[in-house]
Amino acid sequence: MARASAPGRFITLEGGEGAGKSVQARRLAARLRESGLTVVLTREPGGSPGAEALREIILSGEAARYGALGEALLFSAARIDHIDATIAPALRCGEWVVSDRFLDSTRAYQGIAGRLDPGLVASLERVAVGACRPDLTLVLDLPAAEGLARATARRGEAAADRFEGEDLAFHETLRRAFLAIVEAEPDRCVLIDARPSEGEVAAAIWAAVRSRLGEALNAATATSP
Ligand code: TMP
Repeated sequence: MARASAPGRFITLEGGEGAGKSVQARRLAARLRESGLTVVLTREPGGSPGAEALREIILSGEAARYGALGEALLFSAARIDHIDATIAPALRCGEWVVSDRFLDSTRAYQGIAGRLDPGLVASLERVAVGACRPDLTLVLDLPAAEGLARATARRGEAAADRFEGEDLAFHETLRRAFLAIVEAEPDRCVLIDARPSEGEVAAAIWAAVRSRLGEALNAATATSP
């Protein structure tokens, strides 16, 4: 049951392709639930009916014809809907939100790798995200070639989506972009080595959550029903 006593906390997982974000987001949500919290596990692009509709359009590659700016606008439109319909209401009633990707993906994919003007990306972020900033961002890092190999193995026979299909140089640029984000915002971001086993990565993530949000975690679990 949702508690109205304190706002919830917002955790995002970020990184390149094949870093294991989705699995780790699920594991983290389960661990938080075991601690007694009410957790919304969500993802971008998507996480609300309106944003999921845009996900199809973007990831099919249909929107690539509008260029990096057009795609950034679509990701931002999806984000506005996701925040309004899913994230903000959950946080307001004391739930914790774990999102598989959020604003840093736009900064890295459309901003740095897509070579959009940083001022434009920052303005877009202000409009789309406003004050709804993550309390903690876990950036899962591994060499681009390793991530792409994992993504290819996971996909099997299915076709690569819009960004998986980009070349290695694009994915190496992305990796550097995410590393730069962690360096620029050390209070919000924690770098997680995504190369070890799934269990070891989950343990590193849990240690980061306890270290950064331990107080909020203790306060929320102390009042949980
Ligand atoms: P994923 O669900 O497999 O991570 O796929 C989402 C894809 O969309 C991934 O390639 C990253 C990309 N993406 C962006 O380019 N910009 C964004 O703002 C977001 C949220 C995702």
